Amino acid sequence: MTDLLAKKRDGGELTTEEIDFMIQGYTRGEIADYQMSAMCMAILLRGMSDRETLDLTMSMMHSGETVDLSPIAGIKADKHSTGGVGDKTSLILCPMVAACGLKIAKMSGRGLGHTGGTLDKLESFPGFNISIGEERFIENVNRIGISLIGQTADIDPADKKLYALRDVTGTVPSIPLIVSSIMSKKLASGADVIVLDVKCGSGAFMKTEEQALELARGLTRIGRLAGRKCAAVITDMDQPLGRAVGNALEVKEAISVLKGETKGDLLELCLTLGSCMLTEAGCEENAESARKRLLQTIESGAALEKLSELVAAQDGEARDVFDTSRLPLAPVQLDVCSEEAGFVRHIEAEQVGLISMHLGGGRAAKEDVIDLSVGLMLDKKVGDRVEKGERLAVIHAPSAGKAEEAAALLRACYRLSDTPVERPPFIKAIV
Ligand code: URA
Repeated sequence: MTDLLAKKRDGGELTTEEIDFMIQGYTRGEIADYQMSAMCMAILLRGMSDRETLDLTMSMMHSGETVDLSPIAGIKADKHSTGGVGDKTSLILCPMVAACGLKIAKMSGRGLGHTGGTLDKLESFPGFNISIGEERFIENVNRIGISLIGQTADIDPADKKLYALRDVTGTVPSIPLIVSSIMSKKLASGADVIVLDVKCGSGAFMKTEEQALELARGLTRIGRLAGRKCAAVITDMDQPLGRAVGNALEVKEAISVLKGETKGDLLELCLTLGSCMLTEAGCEENAESARKRLLQTIESGAALEKLSELVAAQDGEARDVFDTSRLPLAPVQLDVCSEEAGFVRHIEAEQVGLISMHLGGGRAAKEDVIDLSVGLMLDKKVGDRVEKGERLAVIHAPSAGKAEEAAALLRACYRLSDTPVERPPFIKAIV
């Protein structure tokens, strides 16, 4: 390991065997954290070639179990987001795409910190079971085309150790390390088609479009080199996605998109990611025909029906999709009104995520229990005109005291301008 450290420090290229020695040794506990920390920093400073990044990704993927989706007939598609606030895309996209005939066998995560997780959102449906086991998971996908569960197998233990180490050694923002971390998990999850939503802006990892493009290119290159169909979409995270932030609130917003009642950025993102999936899978010739087909799943009610099948197949009740009155509802709702007039220039996305977390909707630590009912609904988004005293948002809180605290913090997230503000393009690029 000392030799490998010196080699990378001096800008050398590590061989396949050297990378595998390092990753498997580190996973087994034979290489010390201090040496691996130094390696992560050397990689951050010196970079890696595509060949090295692919070898790193494959070695991390093989550090644990991989999911065998071969008992599922048809093309299996998966989606990954680099993490955003108010991101309920999977709840909309997966039923739409499944209604088009692609197979969604997805292992999702829980929320941590200011970002939410699909599993928590799904648990807003009373009874929804995210631990149905691999056999039922496969059986459900074969029967209804969709299942979303928590991780079952011991996937990518190398990433778990490496990510925790990077988090405390200033080595998170390295493109080869991010690419290998994301792609090793995605590849281990077994899908044929992988579509990545790379968030860009103040609420995201990648603050600039250049950084986001570099990451998107890295992710798709490695996906393709590993033999999968892969596309990435770069999307704005300079404000929360859609209007709802908080678990049950986001589920309700997702349902309203599936019912055709809500349009805007959220629907646009789902159509864009969905068309990438359908075209990469070879189910549609081009983005235009794919969008039409996806929109039809909303117009015909097929996508909403698919969500209800998913809920029913995982121990929830299908009727909760059509009538959301049994979903958790916070005891206190408080209007947050603007103290000045103007045009919304910016909404601090990360801070909005943290407010929802402090209301009880997110976790500071993995084992925290969350309140699915709390969060906020944004009335005003970037570009909107606001009058003095007009409502900016509604806080959903467990108590009046918590609601007041959150309201003051939320007001500070809004930046207004005296002159009209143009809405920034939401989809920045497709790779
Ligand atoms: N998400 C991951 O899974 N890994 C990273 O390194 C960054 C984002």
